[in-house]
Amino acid sequence: MDKIEEINKLNEEILKCTRCPLYQFKKNYVPGDGDPNSKIMFIGEAPGRDEDIQGKPFVGKAGQVLTENIRNILNIDRKNVFITNVVKCRPPNNREPKEEEIKACSIWLEKQLEIIKPDIIVTLGHYSTKWIFEYFGLKFNSIMKDRGKIYKVNRWGKEVKIIPTLHPASTLYHKEWREFFDNDFKLIKSILN
Ligand code: URA
Repeated sequence: MDKIEEINKLNEEILKCTRCPLYQFKKNYVPGDGDPNSKIMFIGEAPGRDEDIQGKPFVGKAGQVLTENIRNILNIDRKNVFITNVVKCRPPNNREPKEEEIKACSIWLEKQLEIIKPDIIVTLGHYSTKWIFEYFGLKFNSIMKDRGKIYKVNRWGKEVKIIPTLHPASTLYHKEWREFFDNDFKLIKSILN
């Protein structure tokens, strides 16, 4: 099976998930979107309102910021990267995901990583950075301390680079953070070949 087939098969399982209560409140599962053959994978927190309606990650206002930087700074169309979240169902009223929801949902992100085996993982904000750092045995401090640097781990018989950045939504509330977000994308660009 190739990666596309494997991800499609995994999506069928995700679309039946009842591992935590969030499935009862959602409109649509939001498993992930884009190209499983991509070398680069973006991981956010959890779907919001627009994502819940469309069943796709990062299609609302925060998604516009992310999509813009993927296009304008990385010069890549977003359909050519893989984008997902730690949690695949929208928490009611966009509240933060609970520890037990993240735990229950983790199996899906783990399986996605094991299929895609990306060379570069970009974590967007606190939740995904903490999750990925724990998964790869790195010490998480805080998103502000850890962002904007390249962390190298050995996995899947190769060097994998992790670059944490801010959550794009945070740049909408704190306009002055957009510069950090843009600079982190320039760092990502510098390691893309
Ligand atoms: N915020 C996220 O973390 N993920 C989305 O898909 C949308 C907004």
